[in-house]
Amino acid sequence: MADPIEAMCEAGLSALDEVRSSESLAAWRVTHLGRHSPLMNFLGDLGSLPAAERPAAGRAANQAKHALEAALSVKEEALRLQELERALASEKLDLTLPGRPPQRGRLHPSSQVLRRILAIWAEMGFQVYRSREVESDEYNFQLLNFPPHHPARDMQDTFYTTRPGVILRTHTSPGQVRVMRERCPEPIRVVLPGMCFRYEQVTARAEAQFYQVEGLAVGVGITLANLKATLADFARCMFGASVRVRFRADYFPFTEPSAEMDIECFICGGSGCPVCKRSGWLEILGAGMVHPTVLSNGGYDPRRYSGFAFGMGPERIAMLRHGITDIRAFWANDPRFLEQF
Ligand code: DAH
Repeated sequence: MADPIEAMCEAGLSALDEVRSSESLAAWRVTHLGRHSPLMNFLGDLGSLPAAERPAAGRAANQAKHALEAALSVKEEALRLQELERALASEKLDLTLPGRPPQRGRLHPSSQVLRRILAIWAEMGFQVYRSREVESDEYNFQLLNFPPHHPARDMQDTFYTTRPGVILRTHTSPGQVRVMRERCPEPIRVVLPGMCFRYEQVTARAEAQFYQVEGLAVGVGITLANLKATLADFARCMFGASVRVRFRADYFPFTEPSAEMDIECFICGGSGCPVCKRSGWLEILGAGMVHPTVLSNGGYDPRRYSGFAFGMGPERIAMLRHGITDIRAFWANDPRFLEQF
């Protein structure tokens, strides 16, 4: 009775040799070890054998079953490894491919110049004072000695709001009176950076919004000589130790006397070029001694206190420095412009 069993075992083992995939292995398991496989049928029919043959036939059939099961698990492992290798080869990850570089942001050119200006003033002991962008007509004009209907108001076209007397500040100068009223009678050394707004026709030379940095020093015994020396010092820190400066008389309602400071053109060194319009000089800021009326509006007695003030435009400085010819580029949000700085 051992022979048919041996034949079943042989047939199973040789069929297993032909198996190449886990799908055909599953089919093989059904055929050779499944409930209706010849071997299982044989085991199920053991009872029909004569009693004397049963133990030997049962032992032989069980041995055959174990042999097939053992061969099955060896094959299973071999197939698993093969399939893994195939997957590794076909799904290979090339780790040497260069990645996509992340886009790195940077500071806006206005912020870069603004930070540099503030750092220089910080070294000279000037604190940053932040003042509001939405102002009253009173602070923006009246307390700075621009009475209603004063023609100097025409120098600064204004955005008015629907609330009477509430405007967008046209310059940072209203912060002067705010800081004076807050600090009086302490001496003051502050710079006031921030956004200003003007109802302008937007062109290559004029924007409706732009930064300014205002400066204010108030104390006892401050003179025009202090103003000149301090601003000349600032210019040397900002534009180079050998830069020359000059002051020209000007008019602002909130300073008396008033001046404009020019620096020697840092593009041509003063010999004349298109940037300085062949004059050799670049206009950089307005300044002056704080008007007595403004001092007393801030709470300081002009007979005892004096002070100087100045105002400059970081965008203008950035334009001069980098040869930018269109001020609209600062707010156009074009990365091709911004990436250059
Ligand atoms: N506020 C002036 C403007 O926007 C600039 C200015 C000039 C500010 C002279 C000052 C100053 O503090 O003293 O045109």
